[in-house]
Amino acid sequence: MVDTSDEWIVTRTGIRERHIASNGCHSSDMAVAASKQALEMAGCSGDEIDLLIVGTVTPDYRLPSTACVIQEKMHLPNAVGFDIVAACTGFINGLSIAAPLIEVGRYSKALVIGVEKLSSFTNYADRNTCVLFGDAAGAAVVSREEGEGGVLSTFMKSDGNMRELLWAEVGGTVNPYSPDFSFDGRDKILMNGSDVFKVAVKEMGRAAQNVLDEAGLKPSDIAMIIPHQANIRIIDALAKRLKVDPEKVYINIDKYGNTSAASVPLALDQANRAGKIKPGDNVLMVAFGGGLIWGAALVRW
Ligand code: ACO
Repeated sequence: MVDTSDEWIVTRTGIRERHIASNGCHSSDMAVAASKQALEMAGCSGDEIDLLIVGTVTPDYRLPSTACVIQEKMHLPNAVGFDIVAACTGFINGLSIAAPLIEVGRYSKALVIGVEKLSSFTNYADRNTCVLFGDAAGAAVVSREEGEGGVLSTFMKSDGNMRELLWAEVGGTVNPYSPDFSFDGRDKILMNGSDVFKVAVKEMGRAAQNVLDEAGLKPSDIAMIIPHQANIRIIDALAKRLKVDPEKVYINIDKYGNTSAASVPLALDQANRAGKIKPGDNVLMVAFGGGLIWGAALVRW
């Protein structure tokens, strides 16, 4: 489709495969599949969920939120659902919002989802982006429990000055679709990869340090890092910056590519189901995406 090679993609990004959802499979459908598994693992029923937060930049519709579509498909009659547009940090921001609302007792059980159908939003004639992205969903149940642990600290930050480094220029109210307007791929993801790369390495490192400091922990206290899977070189640079053993960094970018908001919960779930996370472990999640926006969450499992 584009002038590229497997060798270029693997050495520059670490990506070998990416999953593309079929035409009839929408963001909400992937989210439902992930949510069912999350509820099953948590041993809770749909009517116990009172808060539903969905991180996505690829909603089913412009209106209503994808959360409301998922609420109907999942039968969550007692929940309020809304979306967060925070690109790759969507899941971490969802967790960062759900945790304090549960801590203060306003809600009792949240379903936090990260889902993207980025294939609907990718220009397959642009080699700068089309080799990177895949479709996926991940979900977690967040609830109030007795005992130690839980969400120790969270951090969220954005800088809108850099919004044009990674954006879709056309399709909103500034540049609406119109039959006589040539949008030439500008309604799909546009990215200045090398500039995003530099900010990602710096700010993911700072976000990670921020949540560690707030929790009074050191990088050596981390049992597992779940980084946003954007580029293996960004992940390696983060591990080096934090001086953590690469064995403690969960990587699945080779199999899924960059799945934006789904990336962190997908990796978290796989690490957990593979038995790589044990009770009492400090798990650091950190992500970075279009906005620009970045964040981290430190969880004691
Ligand atoms: N195949 C072959 N060559 C390519 C490809 C490709 N698929 N893509 C770009 N190139 C070329 C470029 O055209 C350029 O050629 P030139 O020097 O002749 O102009 C050359 O490779 C180098 O381009 P760079 O952009 O400098 O390459 P870089 O080493 O930075 O790698 C990449 C590009 C992989 C995109 C990297 O910059 C990256 O991962 N950036 C961060 C992406 C990210 O984290 N995004 C945030 C999350 S996404 C979200 O929020 C939805």
